[in-house]
Amino acid sequence: MRVCVIGTGYVGLVTGACLAHIGHSVICVDNNEEKVKLMKSGQSPIFEPGLSEIMQSAIQSGNIEFTTDISAGVSHGEILFIAVGTPPLPTGESDTRYVEAVARGIGANLDGGYKVIVNKSTVPIGSGDWVRMLVMDGIAEQKTLVTAGGAASQEKLPEYASEFDVVSNPEFLREGSAVYDTFNPDRIVLGGNSPRAIDMMKELYAPIVERNFASDKSLPQVPVLATDLSSAEMIKYAANAFLATKISFINEVANICDRVGADITQVAKGIGLDSRIGSKFLQAGIGWGGSCFPKDVSALVHTADDYGYEAQLLKAAVSVNERQRLIALEKLQQALKILKGKTVGLLGLTFKPDTDDLRDAPALNLIEQLNRLGAKVKAYDPIISQTGMRHGLSGVLVETDAERLADGCDALVLVTEWEQFSNLDYAKMAKLMSHAVMIDGRNFLDPETMVRAGFQYIGVGR
Ligand code: NAI
Repeated sequence: MRVCVIGTGYVGLVTGACLAHIGHSVICVDNNEEKVKLMKSGQSPIFEPGLSEIMQSAIQSGNIEFTTDISAGVSHGEILFIAVGTPPLPTGESDTRYVEAVARGIGANLDGGYKVIVNKSTVPIGSGDWVRMLVMDGIAEQKTLVTAGGAASQEKLPEYASEFDVVSNPEFLREGSAVYDTFNPDRIVLGGNSPRAIDMMKELYAPIVERNFASDKSLPQVPVLATDLSSAEMIKYAANAFLATKISFINEVANICDRVGADITQVAKGIGLDSRIGSKFLQAGIGWGGSCFPKDVSALVHTADDYGYEAQLLKAAVSVNERQRLIALEKLQQALKILKGKTVGLLGLTFKPDTDDLRDAPALNLIEQLNRLGAKVKAYDPIISQTGMRHGLSGVLVETDAERLADGCDALVLVTEWEQFSNLDYAKMAKLMSHAVMIDGRNFLDPETMVRAGFQYIGVGR
């Protein structure tokens, strides 16, 4: 099928590359010229395991192209994905201006033939109808322009009565395993009221639904859930809100464990074995962050407020998390007392392993607060140190390896559970430090091993 993906960030690029990999003909559109140049040369602007490889093979097979020209993308695609960002506004609402620009841009470039316009971005509930309205506005603008252009152009007018439908197809991929998740989804949600559009979406995803590209091909087909537009939009918010609340729950229990002398890792195991609860998202630590959970939970709280309902449980999940993101600071103060003039080293910066994404990472709060209290902050992150990406980072010296990081530090804080951090020479690192304090913000390290290496080990709730 012919596909256009507009917005080639973490979601759009992975979606475009994976659809090209399974045989569709994809044009990816982005208004960032630098990114497009990079992608044309087969390089991914983001770090995501396996992405560069499938991009390069799709380029070689001729299944994918990159452009800044939205009209080329719109005229190519029978299915047009909107995958631009919806970052949070200071009020907690989603900033939908990029979606708006793209929807109008699609309308302004429709040139006849039936199209399915797919909201892949996480958009506020009700956005399906709003996108339809904006596309119609775009078409109207185009008509006005053409009419003003004179008689010759007017001959084209009937084509602009192009038919289209809007579908909501929320994305559930996880950064760090985005390619894997796209080929092995737990479910595909399709919201909309046009059977023709839903059928085209099912055809698009058929090779994935049938597990042709799955790591385990013997699994049953991927469930496809067809819903109305608003329910599909709500499914995305509710899923993220639930997962974030689950983490806040275990963090709250961990804080109680700290006070009563219980071990949260054993407690989480004990409750996670209950099949009604499940063991995932029960790892206590320094709180959730990243580009999705904080903004999606806040947006849902905001939508509830707009419609006269106070989402108390979600607000509590957010406030537990805000406090939790500074739990490492409390533990540093307990261990080192005054932080002014001390040097703290952060192991990891990204909000989770296997990504280069620093958006709303807990490390950023920690750096800001440590700076405010007069501490010097250093960091080592396997990806950020290597790529030199520093977007959003200030007040921190980024070191090139873990031993340089440890050198002269009063304490280390493990912020991100990168696999590499299980194999560092901790005994050597402890010797290089002024005080060998280890705050394990992800309960990732073995306490006994750390003590043997010479550290005062402090976890979260253990
Ligand atoms: P991103 O910020 O990485 O990428 C957005 C891309 O859109 C950028 O490359 C930007 O240059 C481009 N763009 C902006 N305006 C444009 C325009 N007018 N025309 C063409 N390109 C334009 O965003 P990300 O993380 O990929 O998120 C996209 C959406 O997917 C958001 O709504 C997000 O909430 C949702 N989502 C993100 C997930 C993630 O893990 N990052 C997971 C699931 C959903």
